[in-house]
Amino acid sequence: MHADIAVLAGDGIGPEVTRAALDVLHAVGQRYGHQFVEHHHLIGGAAIDASGDALPAETLAACRKADAVLLGAVGGPKWSDPKAKVRPEQGLLALRQELGLYANLRPVRPHPAALGASPIKAHLLTGVDLLVVRELTGGLYFGKKNRSADSATDVCTYTVAEIERVVRRAATLASARSGNLASVDKANVLETSRLWREVTTRVIAEEFPNVKLEHHLVDSMAMHLIARPRAFDVIVTENLFGDILTDEASMLAGSMGLLPSASLGDGKRGLYEPIHGSAPDIAGRGIANPIAAILSVAMLLRHSLDLPDEAQCVERAVSQCLDAHVFTADLADGGPSVSTEQLTRAVLTELGGCCYVPELRD
Ligand code: IPM
Ligand code: MG
Repeated sequence: MHADIAVLAGDGIGPEVTRAALDVLHAVGQRYGHQFVEHHHLIGGAAIDASGDALPAETLAACRKADAVLLGAVGGPKWSDPKAKVRPEQGLLALRQELGLYANLRPVRPHPAALGASPIKAHLLTGVDLLVVRELTGGLYFGKKNRSADSATDVCTYTVAEIERVVRRAATLASARSGNLASVDKANVLETSRLWREVTTRVIAEEFPNVKLEHHLVDSMAMHLIARPRAFDVIVTENLFGDILTDEASMLAGSMGLLPSASLGDGKRGLYEPIHGSAPDIAGRGIANPIAAILSVAMLLRHSLDLPDEAQCVERAVSQCLDAHVFTADLADGGPSVSTEQLTRAVLTELGGCCYVPELRD
């Protein structure tokens, strides 16, 4: 197969972890006889520096033409002035909206060897296998914003259609897993949440008789995620709640550096990115954990390119590295740790079990 991948490395550790992920992608391509072509474009702070625009028109056009988009991270202190007219994050949000990527899949599967990196007791984590489906193009993120001297407003709107489509996606995914779906809202306070709950209940009752639906309030879900994470399988929720709950859920896995994501719309094209940010504090030091980016490539292979065997090959290689305690500093808990490149080499070596091992570039 030939696939065009738009690569938006972005800011901070974005370029380092994206490079690692692309090396893994090409190794899989060589082994299985696919040609993956990288097309690099600017987004976020790097794009603001170059053109004043966080999502230049040519970047968006390239993403529309590509089979999939691989993104590193955006943002950093250089562009964080609250008075700034353009912010790097606007580029990412515009890209998600322009490509119609309303369903953001964030799997959380603590690895047995990395349980020690989590602040949660290990016995609560064994067997946890969550998939958070975050609505990605609606809610507070995209409502009208207003600012006057002494007040500020962010409008939260959800339409029935916006709720239906993300709930259908989550329910379809739940059907292929345990059949359990937890919907998270704040229906005791918010009108948008009451609509969310009503629509979710109807869609599941009418279209997914085999899915068992429960509703949870977001505050109580924040607690249950820590107290009994094994009790959940697929979780569907609105944009802001999903943003917050997935940072929390990353602590079950032990590090933000482990969690990939796929942002999907109605077609095959998706945007794949780690859930972590640009980590300016460690950028350029070669110590960032590339696993979230590498696992994002696995999701890209599975969801945009329909290559499930290749995806599994990548996931297995990462898992074997963790089994062998090949940890970057975020996972090592003060013990011995490896660099981004060493971890990437280890993944490429493990890929050798099922994949050809290429030379890492200098
Ligand atoms: C995420 C990030 C983004 C978000 C930021 C960078 C705009 O936190 O992908 O979770 O809030 O969606
Ligand atoms: Mg976030």
